[in-house]
Amino acid sequence: MEVWGIHDAFNGLLESPFGVRPLTPSTCAGLLQRGGTVLGTTNRGDPFAWGPERRDRSGELAAAVTTLGLDGLVVLGGDGTQRIADRLMRERGVPVIGVPKTIDNDLDATDWTFGFQSAVDAATDALDRLHTTAESHDRVMLLEVMGRDAGHIALHAGIAGGADVILLPEIPWRPRAVADKILARRAVGRNFSIVVVAEGALPERTDADGEATPADRRRAGGGAGAIAMAALGPLLDADLPPGAFPTELRCTVLGHLQRGGGPVPFDRVLATRMGVGAVDLLVQGRWGELVRVRHDAVSGVPIREAIARNRQVDVSGELVATARAVGVCLGDR
Ligand code: F6P
Repeated sequence: MEVWGIHDAFNGLLESPFGVRPLTPSTCAGLLQRGGTVLGTTNRGDPFAWGPERRDRSGELAAAVTTLGLDGLVVLGGDGTQRIADRLMRERGVPVIGVPKTIDNDLDATDWTFGFQSAVDAATDALDRLHTTAESHDRVMLLEVMGRDAGHIALHAGIAGGADVILLPEIPWRPRAVADKILARRAVGRNFSIVVVAEGALPERTDADGEATPADRRRAGGGAGAIAMAALGPLLDADLPPGAFPTELRCTVLGHLQRGGGPVPFDRVLATRMGVGAVDLLVQGRWGELVRVRHDAVSGVPIREAIARNRQVDVSGELVATARAVGVCLGDR
């Protein structure tokens, strides 16, 4: 079997400076412990809506696959990428195999996507470090982590890092509930608190009659950690005794630090299993399938099915219940 790497995602099949190159055991040596991709990538290279003019270049792409004599494409990425892969196969007849790689862990068809545990590791490490200043300076420290639509990183890292409050996109949160949690800690001598905020977690809004309405991320304009800090400050200091200092809150936005560096062992093993699983699928001619891990076994599932449902945090599931059981505030009560 001959393997070719495509530079800059689908761009390598469309634009000459990117191109393709053979991948051999020697050119792939030493990749296991590296993050990112030596091939380069982009999240702005949709061949069905290419470039700022959003041109449909999917026909050109299919022609390039034929000209290069490729039997098919192995497409690595999250739900957006797998949607493109599915369209390429259905609308352009390009055979594809999908491999789920995203830090978001939000594809329902697989228990794990590789990259997720490494991001959780980075976020947990950040929480461990934030604890130091929080505890010694009596501060409320907020950590904003990735997760626009799904709060898996926030929930896992929050539990692992001993957060007092975890705010998720799935649970519009009440500033009063969060402030009460922090004040209750203070009342028993815990003068600091750690709050994890997913980037898509927004406070519940109320309409003119004071009724709760769903949070609207677009209206809030981003900056979930800053929004939380601004909402909590006044509530925490409402009953400040005369002469007391106001609460010190600080927000750290972890950003792309949680996507960088080497992968943790779990992700290395998962990526290796999925790589072997993807090759098994294509050897069997099971084009149009995505390799996945379900109940700790590698298998294939039609990409169509895999992209049908994204997985958000199950708000009535075991992990959320576990967080609540150990006293973590999720902002809703
Ligand atoms: O989908 C992966 C992801 O890391 C999300 O968690 C995050 O919201 C987004 O990508 C960040 O995208 P960008 O690097 O374009 O800011």
